[in-house]
Amino acid sequence: MKKLIAGNWKMNGSLAANEALVKAMLEGLGGAVPAADMVLCAPAPYLAQLGGLLRDSPIAWGAQDVSAHEQGAFTGEVSAAMLRDFGCRYAIVGHSERRQYHAESDVTVANKAQRALAAGVTPIVCVGETLAEREAGQTELVVKRQLAAVIHVVAHCTSEIVVAYEPVWAIGTGKTATPEQAQQVHAVLRAQIAAATQHPERVHLLYGGSMNAANAASLLAQPDIDGGLIGGASLKAADFLQIVGSAR
Ligand code: 13P
Repeated sequence: MKKLIAGNWKMNGSLAANEALVKAMLEGLGGAVPAADMVLCAPAPYLAQLGGLLRDSPIAWGAQDVSAHEQGAFTGEVSAAMLRDFGCRYAIVGHSERRQYHAESDVTVANKAQRALAAGVTPIVCVGETLAEREAGQTELVVKRQLAAVIHVVAHCTSEIVVAYEPVWAIGTGKTATPEQAQQVHAVLRAQIAAATQHPERVHLLYGGSMNAANAASLLAQPDIDGGLIGGASLKAADFLQIVGSAR
């Protein structure tokens, strides 16, 4: 399976900065087929711009969130069908920043994943433990609980999701999980997916959390790490392309 490298810009960017960043990435690729599948996830107002910049390119684009509801009186929300209307292929759901700052529960995250799938958008489901949970020996318990909620709701569509393991303590901190630490959790997630679908090999398991040009190769060399979800380093064209290049 080709690896998947996803960039999460978070709440960064502007029309001018996005254009410069995407143009630098496309120039860097130079028309070559990337070593990994690529996707960029921008803030909602910039999705149409991103779609335009990436038209006929090998890079897909995605949203950073999607509503758990189908349509209606949900002020400020963006539905999966609206994303799909613009040609959006992916939506991150359950990022730890949304769980933490917007009180998203496992059930809400599962419903978001389900809405995305129903509209033809691939959800990138984020799971991950906090430092306190890791230190309490609860890492497996937490990630399995988070993923189980999604599997319970999406059921026979489990093989169509992407899962990103993002230990909260490694996000934006410069503290990366070691390849061994990440692999250990990825193996647990792989087993959980294998128990839920006949096609576990179709599910990309991404690692995220301070992944950068220097540490990507060793993480991506692990047997159950099928790609990355990149925050900070996705805002620098050269770094992001180097990560993509190390995904062989
Ligand atoms: P950083 O790569 O900046 O640590 O962010 C990871 C992340 O949260 C991606 O979704």
